[in-house]
Amino acid sequence: MSMLITGIHELVTCDETLDGAVEEELHARLGLLRDAAVVIAGGGEDSAPVVEWVGPASQAPAADWAIDLEGRAVIPGFVDSHSHLVFAGDRSAEFAARMSGTPYDGGGIATTVAATRGADDAELRTLIQHRVQEMRAQGTTTVEIKSGYGLSVADEVRALRLAREVTEETTYLGAHVVPPDHRDGGEAGRAAYLDLVCGEMLEACAPHARWIDVFCEPASPYAFTGEESRRILEAGRAAGLELRVHGNQLSEGPGVQLAVELGAASVDHCTFLTDADVDALAGSDTVATLLPGVEFSTRQPYPDARRLLGAGVDVAIATDCNPGTCYSSSMPLMVALAVREMGMTPAEALRGATVVAAKALRRNDIGTIAVGRRADLAVVDAPSWLHIPYRVGVPLVRALEV
Ligand code: NIG
Ligand code: FE
Repeated sequence: MSMLITGIHELVTCDETLDGAVEEELHARLGLLRDAAVVIAGGGEDSAPVVEWVGPASQAPAADWAIDLEGRAVIPGFVDSHSHLVFAGDRSAEFAARMSGTPYDGGGIATTVAATRGADDAELRTLIQHRVQEMRAQGTTTVEIKSGYGLSVADEVRALRLAREVTEETTYLGAHVVPPDHRDGGEAGRAAYLDLVCGEMLEACAPHARWIDVFCEPASPYAFTGEESRRILEAGRAAGLELRVHGNQLSEGPGVQLAVELGAASVDHCTFLTDADVDALAGSDTVATLLPGVEFSTRQPYPDARRLLGAGVDVAIATDCNPGTCYSSSMPLMVALAVREMGMTPAEALRGATVVAAKALRRNDIGTIAVGRRADLAVVDAPSWLHIPYRVGVPLVRALEV
């Protein structure tokens, strides 16, 4: 079965090679077509529909079904490459305290660990499904989901198993923080937890995960140093996992350099960077993923996206949706914050939320609208994609259900 989608006033393909795309600075590198149509086909029990044809509406081929979007804009579905959706409870009081000046140090993660361990599978599954639905309703068609609020072998495996029910992009984050039950033993407790994360827990989690991540942050007493992070990432790679890193969120730590050295797909946060960090990223294939909702929700300074883009670094944006540093599932909000607070042009921000985010997940079947790629499309209830940051806070974007 094929479906013709027509009535598209602006089609953002993010396919820079597209013949006839509008080449204006405002739409730079977006592969934008006006008065366009898309044909999608396939999709069954085990395969997602794919794009079969893209071009001007006047040349569209016939299809089994047609829908008319009546002059709206269409973009590739958002790729949210960083989230922590497996959790119970919330930390709204911690948010309120931060708004009055209390700094974030990762200590609140323990509160969420306790709440998450206390929830049964059915409760957690319902929470995850609700959050994924909330994301789709705002245009997100791919989401990466981390564990990290279990921090015991059984609870981490459970988090990844439940995450796998809704996405292939699952990330083992046993190294989120040293959990409270290992803190009392001082250095010995910490060492025992590291052994667990790199040993029994990794072995149990690896079959349920694609990625391994670590909160590399010497400025937090709960998170991990550069050397600890190296050990964790190398153990993960040996177990067949690919690498991503939480780095440089609270200080000019070693996370970025480590991520680049080990060839991680992405290093996320990048709030505090030295010139050497920027140079290392510029000469690498590691994407810098910025999470502006975190700075919004922690009152930290926003990362300087212009500095990274100016050096030639690939910059993605994601929500980091989690109960501590950013309880927002909204990619449109992240696009708006990236433009308003981090110096990205609207086009850079949209690319960062789609095609560059796909690179951060080492995927080339998503993030663009092109023949043979997945038919993950989002509709903007406005004539132009530019309305996403322009009409901030208005729910204009939704995933197209096909
Ligand atoms: O990406 N930095 C570490 N982890 C999350 C926050 C987790 C939490 O506070 O619950 C982050 O910001
Ligand atoms: Fe995170």
